[in-house]
Amino acid sequence: MRLETSTIRIESLEPIHYDEILRIVENLPEWFDETARTRSLPTDLRYQIGFVAASDQRVAGFITLYVTEGRLHIGWLAVDKRMQRQGLGSLLLESAESKARQLGIDELATYTLGESVSYPPYEMTRSFYRKHGFRVYKRTRTDNPGCPEEIWISKRVKP
Ligand SMILES: CC(C)(COP(=O)(O)OP(=O)(O)OC[C@H]1O[C@@H](n2cnc3c(N)ncnc32)[C@H](O)[C@@H]1OP(=O)(O)O)[C@@H](O)C(=O)NCCC(=O)NCCS
Repeated sequence: MRLETSTIRIESLEPIHYDEILRIVENLPEWFDETARTRSLPTDLRYQIGFVAASDQRVAGFITLYVTEGRLHIGWLAVDKRMQRQGLGSLLLESAESKARQLGIDELATYTLGESVSYPPYEMTRSFYRKHGFRVYKRTRTDNPGCPEEIWISKRVKP
């Protein structure tokens, strides 16, 4: 079901949202492989804080967050395929920035697939983060064939 954008509100992530979140990532296999969908994300949801963009308990997008090395780190972020490019991802990011301010943390960070790997879905992901002012602060090579280069990106959160 497609949600009417005008009725969508940002709410804190709660267990009641988990099934809807798993439904969203089921339809985004280009970003969320089977391990992510069935193991990593369901576990992380229980231990990370976060926000959902939702209307009447229907979830259109979500972001999860945890604190590490002095940064508020984005664990997982996605918007329902049918609801993308309508500003919901940006709203979720703003909520994460507000949370950082509330926690007294001045940097929001995450990591993603590096640009040395040609994979169009993640070009879109990098565009999204670039548009929001994220810059690379570290590059790592991995032995994971699905993600041989990771870029670690962050932005300063204004007080
Ligand atoms: C990344 C994602 C969360 C963005 O959410 P969204 O609601 O579509 O994003 P917004 O509408 O707020 O877009 C903000 C800006 O991001 C960029 N952007 C978003 N989608 C884009 C696309 N398909 N192609 C190019 N740029 C894009 C644009 O600069 C856009 O601004 P504009 O529409 O004014 O040009 C969403 O596209 C998504 O779920 N992607 C798949 C999962 C993913 O990449 N997760 C993050 C890493 S795991």
